[in-house]
Amino acid sequence: MVKFRYIHHACFILETETDAIIFDPFLDGNPAGITADDIKVSHVLVSHAHADHIGDAAAIAKHNKALLISTAEIAGWAESNDIKAHAMHLGGTHLFPFGKVRVTPAFHGSGIAGGHACGFIVDFYGTTIYFAGDTALFSDMRLLSELENIDYAVLPIGDNFTMGPSDALMAIKLLGVKKVIPIHYNTWPIIAQDPLKFKELAEESTNAKVFIVKPATSLELV
Ligand code: NI
Ligand code: MN
Repeated sequence: MVKFRYIHHACFILETETDAIIFDPFLDGNPAGITADDIKVSHVLVSHAHADHIGDAAAIAKHNKALLISTAEIAGWAESNDIKAHAMHLGGTHLFPFGKVRVTPAFHGSGIAGGHACGFIVDFYGTTIYFAGDTALFSDMRLLSELENIDYAVLPIGDNFTMGPSDALMAIKLLGVKKVIPIHYNTWPIIAQDPLKFKELAEESTNAKVFIVKPATSLELV
């Protein structure tokens, strides 16, 4: 059984009884007061180097001796800080012990020289999650569902820095996914959104079910 454990913002953990991986580990201000020392993971995935995503990646990777998976530029930064890293890039796939990772484009700043922001499609022990990262809506999202069998799409809805709710609605249509988890909202007033309104709209106008996962809670992925 795979669990989606939401820390807050764009930070979440996918876990089974025996393994866990963390995405965009920005812990500042998380409601459960979780620190880097509390996190036990085998892998750290980083979508881009903005502070609200790369966050505590170095500390978490170091104390877990975890493998950091990201774009080549961020992997290079990690290695220069004595962190084990696996460099990938847009369009690339690779098989890890937990399953396959595909790096997807994200239309957003990379936060690091020469880089590109990304998202990930991760097969985690048989459950496939598309984490869009920070991104604008883009029509090639349509292709992602042709390339991978996505069970859950984890989409930003905060607006201002990323897609807002109405663009995320279009993303659901392009992806054709059946299960959606909104993230990257309500961390600060500038990205305040009503997830219930988003859920209502999405469930009215698409075939998707929207799962609102509160920070510091978990959802069983079935
Ligand atoms: Ni960003
Ligand atoms: Mn962000």
